[in-house]
Amino acid sequence: MKGIILAGGSATRLYPLSKAISKQIMPVYDKPMIYYPLSTLMLAGIREVLIISTPRDLPMFEELLGDGTRLGMRLMYKVQEVPNGLAQAFVIGKEFLNGDKGCLILGDNMFHGMGFERMLRDAAGLERGACIFGYEVKDPSAYGVVEFDEEGKVLSLEEKPAKPKSNYAIPGLYFYDETVCDKAASLKPSARGEYEITDLNKLYLAEGTLKVKLFTRGFAWLDTGNCDSLLDAGNYIATIQNRQGFYVACIEEIAWHNGWISLDQLHALGKEMKTAYGRYLESLGHSN
Ligand code: DAU
Repeated sequence: MKGIILAGGSATRLYPLSKAISKQIMPVYDKPMIYYPLSTLMLAGIREVLIISTPRDLPMFEELLGDGTRLGMRLMYKVQEVPNGLAQAFVIGKEFLNGDKGCLILGDNMFHGMGFERMLRDAAGLERGACIFGYEVKDPSAYGVVEFDEEGKVLSLEEKPAKPKSNYAIPGLYFYDETVCDKAASLKPSARGEYEITDLNKLYLAEGTLKVKLFTRGFAWLDTGNCDSLLDAGNYIATIQNRQGFYVACIEEIAWHNGWISLDQLHALGKEMKTAYGRYLESLGHSN
């Protein structure tokens, strides 16, 4: 399984901030936003990741994250010229996936909660079909919405419905088998002119191979869509980190946890930084 992070788009609700800087480079408390989706892929055990963004922003991600060697990973980069839909990730990413299974995460989606790594590892182990997630929200009309029966069988999928058939929004995290690139290539643009991820998921639904897993109550799927939700997300991360002392989305720690870099390498990375973040890395691995 390989991973794709879609980190482009126009982020109009964050103007004028997003006119100056890519949304996914903006800080969520003490780290750039893209660290959060990258850490999610890493927790799923995914070691090869393609980052897709705009011609303007892609070099910034490349400068920030490099080729991934310092995390024991392989990171690649590709431009999306026009933000014409999430499903395009699998047209742009076809060569990168090279016949492998693929997980897509949106660059502005943040997750945090108990049992997440287990859920991710299960989804990444899928043999056939697709696995998406459901998250109960008060108003799902701004999202993809999934309706399912008592046995968890998916009945319908709708993109931003005016009258949602359930309260379960679909977060921007999707696991697909190796047929995903062919399916994505067969899509037609929707009424709003986009290659919709929901249409891609509908192909799996029609085939009877779409699974949905539900996040439980208390699990955090954070929004960073406007300035208030961006600040709320930062405050959430600060609260958790400062209370417990454990960092959220610390990509170097996860690389070490996954056995992709050694403890010495982790400490060396921390030493370079000369910040609280760096001192955290240097403190890891010492029994106390
Ligand atoms: O956040 C989850 C939701 O994401 C899902 O529930 C919806 O089904 C899905 O369509 C998507 O809805 P959004 O309205 O949030 O998508 P948006 O157009 O805002 O794009 C999400 C991110 O992906 C955003 O950071 C911009 C980036 N993007 C978007 C498009 C359309 C790209 O990089 N390229 C694109 O072509």
